[in-house]
Amino acid sequence: MVEQYGKFAYIYDELMQDVDYLKWANYVEEIIIKNNIESKKILELACGTGNVTIPMAQKGYNIVGVDISQDMLTIAKSKSIEKNLNLLFIEQNMVDLKLKEKFDAILSMCDGMNYITDINDLIQVFQNAYDVLEDGGVFIFDISSHYKIKNILGNNTFGENLEDLSYMWENYFDEESSIINMDLTFFIKDGKYYRKEEEYHIQRAYKEKEIIEELKKIGFKEIEAYDGFTFDKPKNESERVFFKAKK
Ligand SMILES: C[S@@+](CC[C@H](N)C(=O)[O-])C[C@H]1O[C@@H](n2cnc3c(N)ncnc32)[C@H](O)[C@@H]1O
Repeated sequence: MVEQYGKFAYIYDELMQDVDYLKWANYVEEIIIKNNIESKKILELACGTGNVTIPMAQKGYNIVGVDISQDMLTIAKSKSIEKNLNLLFIEQNMVDLKLKEKFDAILSMCDGMNYITDINDLIQVFQNAYDVLEDGGVFIFDISSHYKIKNILGNNTFGENLEDLSYMWENYFDEESSIINMDLTFFIKDGKYYRKEEEYHIQRAYKEKEIIEELKKIGFKEIEAYDGFTFDKPKNESERVFFKAKK
């Protein structure tokens, strides 16, 4: 299996430094409130380095983070300790989620679902979320839209030359499978020299309609899709689409 978020974990936060995660957490909280979720027990799938987990905990939510990458979780744990938060992070594949507790809300932010590249696995993740959700609980997640993956990321190369880090990000999109292969090469300053590291990520572009259909089949209700960070319907050119579904 290809390793994703191994060495890349240690530069992830630097690459994401322009993302306003407080705004992200505020938006998620708005969805939680709109859905009349009063108690505060949350599970976050694909929580990564805790960029949403930590602000949600600071807002007073009792949040548990799950991620498949031990490296991402190591960073999440140390960031939470720095902030005097005692958070539980669990290393698990969300496709094979095994948790005994139930939660009032389940989150997955910033592409977690795009990393599930087999539709049957995605259905299993939805089922797992349903199973660990309390009745009346809400499942909130986002995706990079099909439009973004095909037209913005797909068959395109990105790069940046930062102070201690430079990277190249080469993407190849296959229309038939909706799979995008991402080759990441990064050069990390190490004393006088730069260390070259490589990772290979795979994501899948999902259409809003297929996600909604699968959520419905599982039994989710009151399913809505939003153009990212608004409560408007997604547009043809929306780049991030959020979904909320109730049990
Ligand atoms: C783009 S990062 C997002 C991290 C975090 N949610 C954020 O907003 O910064 C995607 C995360 O999905 C995780 N991931 C990918 N496949 C997963 C799986 N099958 N189960 C759990 N986590 C997974 C990766 O390890 C990575 O931490």
